[in-house]
Amino acid sequence: MRARIILDVDTGIDDSLALLYLLASPDAEIAGIAATAGNVPADRVAANNLAWLDVCGAPAIEVALGAPEPLAIPLRTTEDTHGPQGIGYAELPESRRPLSDRSAARMWVELARAHPGELIGLCTGPLTNLALALRIEPELPTLLRRLVVMGGAFNHPGNTTPTNEWNVHVDPEAAKEVFDAFSSAPADRRPIICALDITETIEMFPEHLRRLAERAGCPPDRPVSAHDPDGLRSTSPNPVVRHIDDAVRFYFEFHRHHDQGYLAHMHDPFAAAVAIDPALAVLRPATVDVELTGTLTRATTVADWAGMWGRQPNADIVIGTDPVVFFDRLITRVGDFARAVHPPARQEVS
Ligand code: RIB
Ligand code: CA
Repeated sequence: MRARIILDVDTGIDDSLALLYLLASPDAEIAGIAATAGNVPADRVAANNLAWLDVCGAPAIEVALGAPEPLAIPLRTTEDTHGPQGIGYAELPESRRPLSDRSAARMWVELARAHPGELIGLCTGPLTNLALALRIEPELPTLLRRLVVMGGAFNHPGNTTPTNEWNVHVDPEAAKEVFDAFSSAPADRRPIICALDITETIEMFPEHLRRLAERAGCPPDRPVSAHDPDGLRSTSPNPVVRHIDDAVRFYFEFHRHHDQGYLAHMHDPFAAAVAIDPALAVLRPATVDVELTGTLTRATTVADWAGMWGRQPNADIVIGTDPVVFFDRLITRVGDFARAVHPPARQEVS
Protein backbone atom coordinates (compact mmCIF):
# COMPACT_ATOMS: atom_id res chain seq x y z
CA MET A 1 0.00 0.00 0.00
CA ARG A 2 1.38 3.41 -0.94
CA ALA A 3 2.26 5.69 1.95
CA ARG A 4 0.06 8.77 1.54
CA ILE A 5 1.91 11.59 3.26
CA ILE A 6 1.19 15.06 4.58
CA LEU A 7 4.65 16.63 4.41
CA ASP A 8 5.40 19.54 6.77
CA VAL A 9 8.77 21.13 6.02
CA ASP A 10 11.01 24.15 6.61
CA THR A 11 12.89 23.77 3.29
CA GLY A 12 15.85 23.70 3.86
CA ILE A 13 18.61 21.71 2.15
CA ASP A 14 17.81 18.36 3.75
CA ASP A 15 14.08 19.08 3.55
CA SER A 16 14.65 19.35 -0.21
CA LEU A 17 16.14 15.85 -0.25
CA ALA A 18 13.13 14.60 1.76
CA LEU A 19 10.76 16.03 -0.87
CA LEU A 20 12.81 14.49 -3.70
CA TYR A 21 12.91 11.14 -1.92
CA LEU A 22 9.10 11.10 -1.64
CA LEU A 23 8.61 12.24 -5.25
CA ALA A 24 11.04 9.52 -6.37
CA SER A 25 9.37 6.76 -4.34
CA PRO A 26 6.75 4.67 -6.15
CA ASP A 27 5.49 3.51 -2.74
CA ALA A 28 4.73 7.07 -1.62
CA GLU A 29 2.28 9.79 -2.55
CA ILE A 30 2.29 13.34 -1.25
CA ALA A 31 -1.21 14.45 -0.20
CA GLY A 32 -0.07 17.99 0.59
CA ILE A 33 2.92 20.09 1.66
CA ALA A 34 2.79 22.46 4.65
CA ALA A 35 5.35 25.28 4.53
CA THR A 36 6.56 25.95 8.07
CA ALA A 37 8.81 28.81 9.14
CA GLY A 38 12.14 27.56 10.42
CA ASN A 39 15.34 27.40 8.39
CA VAL A 40 13.90 30.31 6.41
CA PRO A 41 10.58 32.22 6.60
CA ALA A 42 7.41 30.33 5.65
CA ASP A 43 6.87 32.16 2.36
CA ARG A 44 10.39 31.25 1.25
CA VAL A 45 9.78 27.63 2.32
CA ALA A 46 6.64 27.58 0.18
CA ALA A 47 8.44 29.11 -2.81
CA ASN A 48 11.26 26.55 -2.50
CA ASN A 49 8.80 23.66 -2.58
CA LEU A 50 6.89 25.03 -5.56
CA ALA A 51 10.19 25.52 -7.38
CA TRP A 52 11.36 21.96 -6.64
CA LEU A 53 8.01 20.63 -7.94
CA ASP A 54 8.70 22.47 -11.21
CA VAL A 55 12.25 21.10 -11.49
CA CYS A 56 10.88 17.60 -10.94
CA GLY A 57 8.01 17.94 -13.38
CA ALA A 58 5.76 16.92 -10.50
CA PRO A 59 1.98 16.89 -10.73
CA ALA A 60 -0.01 19.66 -9.05
CA ILE A 61 0.63 19.03 -5.36
CA GLU A 62 -0.93 21.40 -2.82
CA VAL A 63 1.54 23.67 -1.02
CA ALA A 64 -0.05 25.52 1.92
CA LEU A 65 1.49 28.47 3.69
CA GLY A 66 2.06 28.11 7.42
CA ALA A 67 2.03 30.64 10.25
CA PRO A 68 4.65 33.40 9.97
CA GLU A 69 5.81 32.99 13.59
CA PRO A 70 6.12 30.21 16.20
CA LEU A 71 3.34 29.88 18.78
CA ALA A 72 4.86 32.00 21.51
CA ILE A 73 8.24 33.45 20.53
CA PRO A 74 9.65 35.43 17.59
CA LEU A 75 10.85 33.44 14.58
CA ARG A 76 14.53 32.60 14.39
CA THR A 77 15.84 31.48 11.00
CA THR A 78 19.21 30.03 9.99
CA GLU A 79 20.34 31.21 6.58
CA ASP A 80 23.95 30.62 7.64
CA THR A 81 23.15 26.89 7.70
CA HIS A 82 20.89 26.54 4.67
CA GLY A 83 21.80 29.55 2.52
CA PRO A 84 20.11 32.89 1.85
CA GLN A 85 17.18 31.23 0.07
CA GLY A 86 17.23 28.07 2.20
CA ILE A 87 18.55 25.74 -0.51
CA GLY A 88 22.27 26.32 -0.26
CA TYR A 89 23.87 27.44 -3.52
CA ALA A 90 20.99 26.05 -5.60
CA GLU A 91 19.16 28.69 -7.63
CA LEU A 92 15.80 27.30 -8.72
CA PRO A 93 13.64 29.29 -11.14
CA GLU A 94 10.71 30.85 -9.26
CA SER A 95 7.57 28.79 -9.85
CA ARG A 96 4.31 30.10 -11.23
CA ARG A 97 2.38 27.36 -9.46
CA PRO A 98 -0.27 28.85 -7.13
CA LEU A 99 -0.12 28.50 -3.36
CA SER A 100 -3.09 26.72 -1.72
CA ASP A 101 -5.86 29.07 -0.63
CA ARG A 102 -6.05 27.38 2.77
CA SER A 103 -3.54 27.62 5.61
CA ALA A 104 -1.15 24.81 6.45
CA ALA A 105 -3.07 24.09 9.66
CA ARG A 106 -6.39 23.87 7.84
CA MET A 107 -4.82 21.64 5.20
CA TRP A 108 -3.63 19.25 7.94
CA VAL A 109 -7.11 19.11 9.49
CA GLU A 110 -9.15 18.89 6.30
CA LEU A 111 -6.93 16.23 4.68
CA ALA A 112 -6.99 14.11 7.86
CA ARG A 113 -10.78 14.42 8.20
CA ALA A 114 -11.26 13.56 4.52
CA HIS A 115 -9.08 10.44 4.75
CA PRO A 116 -9.46 9.12 8.31
CA GLY A 117 -6.80 6.59 9.30
CA GLU A 118 -5.06 6.77 5.92
CA LEU A 119 -2.53 9.59 6.00
CA ILE A 120 0.96 9.64 7.49
CA GLY A 121 2.13 12.98 8.86
CA LEU A 122 5.82 13.68 8.24
CA CYS A 123 7.30 16.74 9.97
CA THR A 124 10.84 17.79 9.12
CA GLY A 125 10.65 21.32 10.50
CA PRO A 126 9.30 23.07 13.60
CA LEU A 127 5.90 21.76 14.76
CA THR A 128 4.11 25.11 14.69
CA ASN A 129 1.48 24.25 12.08
CA LEU A 130 0.82 20.75 13.38
CA ALA A 131 0.22 22.27 16.83
CA LEU A 132 -2.17 24.82 15.29
CA ALA A 133 -3.95 21.96 13.49
CA LEU A 134 -4.30 20.05 16.78
CA ARG A 135 -5.90 23.13 18.36
CA ILE A 136 -8.49 23.06 15.56
CA GLU A 137 -8.92 19.27 15.58
CA PRO A 138 -7.87 17.54 18.86
CA GLU A 139 -8.79 14.19 17.27
CA LEU A 140 -5.94 14.48 14.77
CA PRO A 141 -3.85 11.77 16.54
CA THR A 142 -6.58 9.22 15.80
CA LEU A 143 -7.37 10.60 12.34
CA LEU A 144 -3.76 10.15 11.19
CA ARG A 145 -2.46 6.67 10.34
CA ARG A 146 0.91 7.63 11.85
CA LEU A 147 3.13 10.63 12.56
CA VAL A 148 6.88 10.77 11.91
CA VAL A 149 8.86 13.69 13.33
CA MET A 150 12.45 14.72 12.66
CA GLY A 151 13.40 16.57 15.83
CA GLY A 152 14.81 16.50 19.30
CA ALA A 153 17.91 15.02 20.87
CA PHE A 154 17.80 12.55 23.75
CA ASN A 155 21.03 10.86 24.82
CA HIS A 156 22.92 13.14 22.44
CA PRO A 157 24.16 16.74 22.30
CA GLY A 158 21.99 19.40 20.73
CA ASN A 159 22.87 21.18 17.46
CA THR A 160 21.50 24.60 18.37
CA THR A 161 22.21 24.87 22.11
CA PRO A 162 24.18 22.28 24.07
CA THR A 163 20.98 20.32 24.70
CA ASN A 164 18.36 21.24 22.08
CA GLU A 165 17.78 20.53 18.42
CA TRP A 166 16.85 23.17 15.81
CA ASN A 167 13.24 22.19 14.98
CA VAL A 168 12.28 22.09 18.66
CA HIS A 169 14.42 25.15 19.45
CA VAL A 170 12.45 27.27 16.95
CA ASP A 171 9.09 26.40 18.52
CA PRO A 172 9.33 24.45 21.79
CA GLU A 173 5.75 25.28 22.81
CA ALA A 174 4.51 23.66 19.61
CA ALA A 175 6.64 20.56 20.17
CA LYS A 176 5.24 20.18 23.70
CA GLU A 177 1.66 20.57 22.48
CA VAL A 178 2.23 17.91 19.82
CA PHE A 179 3.84 15.36 22.14
CA ASP A 180 1.18 16.00 24.82
CA ALA A 181 -1.57 15.47 22.22
CA PHE A 182 -0.30 11.93 21.63
CA SER A 183 -0.18 11.09 25.35
CA SER A 184 -3.07 8.63 25.02
CA ALA A 185 -2.24 7.33 21.56
CA PRO A 186 -2.31 3.54 21.15
CA ALA A 187 1.06 1.86 20.58
CA ASP A 188 0.64 1.69 16.78
CA ARG A 189 -0.18 5.42 16.57
CA ARG A 190 2.67 6.78 18.69
CA PRO A 191 4.77 9.36 16.78
CA ILE A 192 8.04 7.95 15.45
CA ILE A 193 10.77 10.40 16.43
CA CYS A 194 13.94 10.66 14.34
CA ALA A 195 16.18 12.63 16.69
CA LEU A 196 19.78 13.77 16.33
CA ASP A 197 20.89 10.60 18.15
CA ILE A 198 20.24 8.78 14.89
CA THR A 199 20.09 11.45 12.18
CA GLU A 200 23.64 12.57 12.92
CA THR A 201 24.74 9.07 11.88
CA ILE A 202 23.17 9.68 8.45
CA GLU A 203 26.28 11.32 7.03
CA MET A 204 26.27 12.20 3.34
CA PHE A 205 29.70 12.47 1.68
CA PRO A 206 30.72 13.63 -1.82
CA GLU A 207 30.89 9.97 -2.90
CA HIS A 208 27.14 9.67 -2.37
CA LEU A 209 26.55 12.59 -4.75
CA ARG A 210 28.88 11.05 -7.33
CA ARG A 211 26.96 7.74 -7.14
CA LEU A 212 23.64 9.54 -7.46
CA ALA A 213 24.81 11.42 -10.58
CA GLU A 214 26.06 8.18 -12.10
CA ARG A 215 22.72 6.50 -11.36
CA ALA A 216 21.02 9.43 -13.13
CA GLY A 217 23.11 8.75 -16.21
CA CYS A 218 25.30 11.83 -15.92
CA PRO A 219 28.57 10.96 -14.15
CA PRO A 220 30.12 14.29 -13.13
CA ASP A 221 33.13 15.61 -15.07
CA ARG A 222 34.25 17.25 -11.82
CA PRO A 223 32.69 15.47 -8.81
CA VAL A 224 32.08 17.54 -5.68
CA SER A 225 35.24 17.26 -3.59
CA ALA A 226 36.47 18.29 -0.17
CA HIS A 227 39.40 19.86 -2.04
CA ASP A 228 37.11 22.26 -3.93
CA PRO A 229 37.20 25.94 -3.03
CA ASP A 230 33.96 27.12 -1.38
CA GLY A 231 31.11 28.14 -3.63
CA LEU A 232 31.73 26.11 -6.77
CA ARG A 233 28.69 25.29 -8.87
CA SER A 234 27.70 22.04 -10.54
CA THR A 235 27.78 21.78 -14.34
CA SER A 236 25.62 18.67 -14.49
CA PRO A 237 23.31 18.58 -17.52
CA ASN A 238 20.60 17.06 -15.30
CA PRO A 239 18.76 19.85 -13.43
CA VAL A 240 17.78 17.62 -10.49
CA VAL A 241 21.38 16.45 -10.05
CA ARG A 242 22.75 19.98 -10.58
CA HIS A 243 20.50 21.57 -7.96
CA ILE A 244 21.06 18.76 -5.45
CA ASP A 245 24.84 19.17 -5.82
CA ASP A 246 24.62 22.95 -5.41
CA ALA A 247 22.35 22.63 -2.38
CA VAL A 248 24.34 19.94 -0.60
CA ARG A 249 27.74 21.56 -1.34
CA PHE A 250 26.64 24.51 0.86
CA TYR A 251 25.75 22.01 3.64
CA PHE A 252 29.15 20.25 3.29
CA GLU A 253 30.87 23.62 3.73
CA PHE A 254 28.68 24.50 6.73
CA HIS A 255 29.52 21.22 8.50
CA ARG A 256 33.24 21.68 7.75
CA HIS A 257 33.18 25.23 9.06
CA HIS A 258 31.76 23.76 12.28
CA ASP A 259 34.54 21.15 12.55
CA GLN A 260 32.30 18.23 11.67
CA GLY A 261 34.10 17.33 8.46
CA TYR A 262 33.15 17.74 4.80
CA LEU A 263 29.85 15.93 5.20
CA ALA A 264 26.15 16.67 5.59
CA HIS A 265 23.71 15.18 8.09
CA MET A 266 20.68 14.02 6.09
CA HIS A 267 18.14 14.35 8.91
CA ASP A 268 15.03 14.90 6.81
CA PRO A 269 15.28 12.38 3.96
CA PHE A 270 15.98 9.75 6.61
CA ALA A 271 12.71 10.66 8.34
CA ALA A 272 10.99 10.46 4.94
CA ALA A 273 12.43 6.99 4.35
CA VAL A 274 11.16 5.88 7.79
CA ALA A 275 7.71 7.32 7.05
CA ILE A 276 7.51 5.09 3.98
CA ASP A 277 9.16 2.07 5.62
CA PRO A 278 9.32 2.06 9.45
CA ALA A 279 11.20 -1.26 9.24
CA LEU A 280 14.29 0.82 8.48
CA ALA A 281 14.32 1.86 12.14
CA VAL A 282 14.70 0.15 15.48
CA LEU A 283 12.19 1.82 17.79
CA ARG A 284 11.93 2.11 21.56
CA PRO A 285 8.88 3.55 23.34
CA ALA A 286 9.28 6.42 25.79
CA THR A 287 7.39 9.28 27.33
CA VAL A 288 8.67 12.47 25.73
CA ASP A 289 8.24 15.98 27.04
CA VAL A 290 9.82 19.35 26.32
CA GLU A 291 11.51 21.67 28.83
CA LEU A 292 10.03 25.16 28.45
CA THR A 293 11.30 27.06 31.49
CA GLY A 294 14.91 25.94 31.93
CA THR A 295 17.39 28.79 31.86
CA LEU A 296 20.03 26.68 30.16
CA THR A 297 17.80 23.84 28.93
CA ARG A 298 14.75 25.47 27.34
CA ALA A 299 13.54 23.50 24.26
CA THR A 300 15.37 20.37 25.37
CA THR A 301 13.47 17.14 24.64
CA VAL A 302 13.47 14.71 27.54
CA ALA A 303 12.72 10.97 27.20
CA ASP A 304 11.46 8.97 30.17
CA TRP A 305 12.42 5.47 29.01
CA ALA A 306 11.52 3.71 32.27
CA GLY A 307 8.16 5.17 33.33
CA MET A 308 9.64 7.26 36.14
CA TRP A 309 7.03 9.97 35.55
CA GLY A 310 4.20 7.46 35.79
CA ARG A 311 2.94 8.50 32.35
CA GLN A 312 2.17 6.25 29.37
CA PRO A 313 4.66 6.32 26.47
CA ASN A 314 3.66 8.92 23.85
CA ALA A 315 6.42 8.27 21.33
CA ASP A 316 8.53 5.63 19.60
CA ILE A 317 12.08 6.92 19.42
CA VAL A 318 14.38 5.62 16.69
CA ILE A 319 17.38 4.06 18.45
CA GLY A 320 18.95 2.22 15.52
CA THR A 321 19.25 2.04 11.74
CA ASP A 322 21.70 1.13 8.98
CA PRO A 323 22.83 4.29 7.15
CA VAL A 324 24.20 2.21 4.26
CA VAL A 325 20.75 0.76 3.56
CA PHE A 326 19.27 4.25 3.67
CA PHE A 327 21.82 5.79 1.29
CA ASP A 328 21.50 2.89 -1.16
CA ARG A 329 17.76 3.53 -1.21
CA LEU A 330 18.18 7.32 -1.56
CA ILE A 331 20.70 7.02 -4.39
CA THR A 332 18.72 4.40 -6.28
CA ARG A 333 15.38 6.17 -6.01
CA VAL A 334 16.46 9.77 -6.56
CA GLY A 335 19.03 8.80 -9.21
CA ASP A 336 16.49 6.80 -11.21
CA PHE A 337 13.94 9.60 -10.75
CA ALA A 338 16.38 12.28 -11.97
CA ARG A 339 17.14 10.13 -15.02
CA ALA A 340 13.45 9.55 -15.78
CA VAL A 341 12.52 13.24 -15.48
CA HIS A 342 15.57 14.50 -17.37
CA PRO A 343 16.85 11.63 -19.60
CA PRO A 344 20.54 11.88 -20.58
CA ALA A 345 20.97 13.39 -24.06
CA ARG A 346 21.01 10.47 -26.44
CA GLN A 347 24.56 9.90 -27.56
CA GLU A 348 24.75 10.57 -31.31
CA VAL A 349 25.46 7.23 -32.93
CA SER A 350 28.32 7.97 -35.39
O1 RIB B 1 18.15 19.83 13.43
C1 RIB B 1 18.02 19.43 12.10
C2 RIB B 1 16.72 19.86 11.55
O2 RIB B 1 16.63 21.28 11.59
C3 RIB B 1 16.54 19.49 10.06
O3 RIB B 1 15.18 19.27 9.81
C4 RIB B 1 17.01 20.73 9.34
O4 RIB B 1 16.38 20.89 8.06
C5 RIB B 1 16.51 21.81 10.26
O5 RIB B 1 15.13 22.03 9.99
CA1 CA C 1 14.05 20.66 8.16
